[in-house]
Amino acid sequence: MQVISTATEYDAIYQQWQDQEVALVPTMGALHEGHLALIRLARQVADVVVVSIFVNPLQFGPQEDLSHYPRPLEQDLALCRELGVDAVFTPSVAVLYPEGMDNVTTVVPPVSLTERFCGEFRPGHFTGVATVVLKLFNLLRPQVAVFGEKDAQQLMVIRQMVRDLHLPVRVLPHPTIREASGLALSSRNRYLETEAERRAALSLSAILNRVRLSARQAVQAGQPPLNAETTLGEISREVLAEQSGPGVTIRLQYLAAVDKDTFEPIHTLGANAKVLAAAYVNDVRLIDNMDVE
Ligand code: PAJ
Repeated sequence: MQVISTATEYDAIYQQWQDQEVALVPTMGALHEGHLALIRLARQVADVVVVSIFVNPLQFGPQEDLSHYPRPLEQDLALCRELGVDAVFTPSVAVLYPEGMDNVTTVVPPVSLTERFCGEFRPGHFTGVATVVLKLFNLLRPQVAVFGEKDAQQLMVIRQMVRDLHLPVRVLPHPTIREASGLALSSRNRYLETEAERRAALSLSAILNRVRLSARQAVQAGQPPLNAETTLGEISREVLAEQSGPGVTIRLQYLAAVDKDTFEPIHTLGANAKVLAAAYVNDVRLIDNMDVE
């Protein structure tokens, strides 16, 4: 496995790959089973697998966890090696942003995709994501790139960028990997320190699961699809009351149903619905989503 940090080093090995298909898995490191599943999928579909590890400052807000973001590089490299990754690209900030981040050209995704949900609460975040992903595509020139459905709005933004800018990259989604408890794996789960915090973190998947179950039951019973607002309101109140405990505060940031193809908010929980959620467990921000179907 080659570990490289500059475009020149990469160009040299890219040439050796000649006509082989290259799959890229972009990450910020602190790899967990979610990331590893993406890498395994990449391994299955392409001849050569490249993983990028770069904690992208441009997608973090001023109050966010950029300086504390976990960076266990040696551990990450060992995991990549075990999975048969061909190359890991770990550029410095200076390589990706040689002139700094203040005057850099950016990719601004359409407002219709970023004005709600994570985009509403993280201004500039998706511009940072789209910009760095385009840079990685241009530097690493993959034919395929794998992204997780866990970050559903990010996946929408990337797909739209690929379409709008005619990028010659096939975007391959991978379903969310969860712990047996239901908790979606995330590099930020390691900030959950106490047992009470870990239990509270299960609220997100518990709400989404119950919403899905209720919506399906209504359909199976031949009833009209459930009203999204009422159902989400009732179920979230129930779950939050059950999961709250001493020493832990759960604050839902958003909980909403969207059309899974367009990301437009919808009012009934039919087969095309996706439910999105974000919450703070004390000061740890977690996101999750689930399709109703
Ligand atoms: P990061 O949070 O490291 O995630 C890298 C990739 O892993 C993303 O495509 C994300 O959706 C996927 N992923 C994370 N947790 C997952 C889980 N539990 N199941 C399935 N996939 C999961 O997302 C980013 O980094 C950055 O924004 C990036 C795209 C690298 C741009 O900087």
